[in-house]
Order: sequence, then C-alpha cells, then structure tokens
Amino acid sequence: MPTVSFTQPPRASGELLTPGRWAQAGPRAPRAGPGLECLCLRKAEPWGLSRASPASAPPPNPGFSARLRLPIKESAAAGLRARPYGSNTDLALRVMVQAWYMDDAPGDPRQPHRPDPDRPVGLERLRRLGVLYWKLDADKYENDPELEKIRRERNYSWMDIITICKDKLPNYEEKIKMFYEEHLHLDDEIRYILDGSGYFDVRDKEDKWIRIFMEKGDMITLPAGIYHRFTVDEKNYTKAMRLFVGEPVWTAYNRPADHFEARGQYMKFLAQTA
Ligand SMILES: [Fe+2]
Repeated sequence: MPTVSFTQPPRASGELLTPGRWAQAGPRAPRAGPGLECLCLRKAEPWGLSRASPASAPPPNPGFSARLRLPIKESAAAGLRARPYGSNTDLALRVMVQAWYMDDAPGDPRQPHRPDPDRPVGLERLRRLGVLYWKLDADKYENDPELEKIRRERNYSWMDIITICKDKLPNYEEKIKMFYEEHLHLDDEIRYILDGSGYFDVRDKEDKWIRIFMEKGDMITLPAGIYHRFTVDEKNYTKAMRLFVGEPVWTAYNRPADHFEARGQYMKFLAQTA
C-alpha cells in the first residue's frame, strides 16, 4: 500500500507557515520549522485533486451548495464519527455545537464572553450562515478514514499544521492580535483542531457575533466572504490543521471588504437562506 506523506511544497504561503500537499511520497518529512509539524498519512489513493477540474472540484463556494451534506457534531457517547446531516434524525436532534451569541462586555477576548442568560446557537443556525462543522477523532488524524472521506468529498488537497502558543509561534502576541481582527477571505477557511482549543467568531445576518468554541477533534469550514476572527482561549494553546482546496491563499482582508466578489456571493447566499 502506498504511503501518503506531508511534504514540503515548492512555494511559501506568504503568511505564517510553509504549507504542504498530500501526495504520494516516502518516509516522514523532516520538521519544517517553528509551529509546523510533519504529517504522515497512510492511504490507498493519491491526493493532488485539481480545483480546476470540473469533474472533481467542488462548487466555488462549497458551503453554499444546496446539495451539500452538512456534518453534525456527535456526542462522545455516540462515538466520534463524522456523519452527514439528517442521516440519523435522533442523533441530529441531540447534537448541540458549542456556540453562543457573545456578550458585549469589554475585556480579554480569550475569555468565553458567554452571556447570562445564555444565548446558545445550534448547528442549523450555523448552517444557514454557511458554517459547516464536523467532530473527528484527532488522536488518529494521521490515518483517519473519516478525515480522508471529508478531504476527498470536498477536495481538500492541501494542508499544514500550525501550533499557536508562545513557545512555537514567532511574534505570538502580534499574530494573536492579527487573528482577532475582523476579516474575510476569498476562499473557505478550514480548520481542524488537533489539540488545545480556541474560539472562532462569525457574524450572523444581523451582524451580531456568534462565538464557536473549538477544541480537540472539532473541524470547521467558514465560507468565503464571511466576516470572522479567531482567538485562542485562556489556555493560550491551539494546534490546528489548516486545509485548503488547491494551493493556499491565506490573505485576509480586514473589514470593510464588501467590494470583493466573494463577499457579494456570500450576501446572496445569506439572502437565499433567510
Ligand atoms: Fe480567517
């Protein structure tokens, strides 16, 4: 059986780290640099799917597809398996993603900012914003058929691993501030938390902040054009896989960025899901 390894690509990302591609290769690649770890995956089929291929590529904004199969978060008791939304009604009804409307209190963004009384947000509301969520077993991310299935279905052909902590990420405080600037991207943002935890904040249709708590095993896709931000929590440690369709473009456009086509497309999507 061929071995698929995380190897270094010929170009730099231009932002934080050097990304890598899933491709057939030999032994585990050497450590690539601060905050970046090497990954060795074993699978039977090669990666390298082309985003330009109409036969294999997902829609330009996969989160907007009406045919999209929404993953759901399952309880620990139900097992750690990604499953399409609606494939198990009983299970879907029990599932609650850890998300809530943020309070308006000033202070450290690394705190939960969870109001009292609580204003929880469920998967369906996130889905209507184009935000997709999976729960996976992060302990086996190097050889996880569920992750492989998601990657194949959604054409995630590029990945790297970033560790966000003071000891591993250069200019940590500066980067944390940058992550927390409200921004959008022209492509989906896909993150899989391998260890630690943190918060993704996304704007809802009324421009209110929804905070999504992400911990080990959580995987999320934020659609292109959505205003969002990220912060570590008070533990100051997040280790995450970053995935991408094709070669990554990490450019963030701080708000206001309404003139981009991706934003316009996203606003159309929101109007359709009203
Ligand atoms: Fe982002």
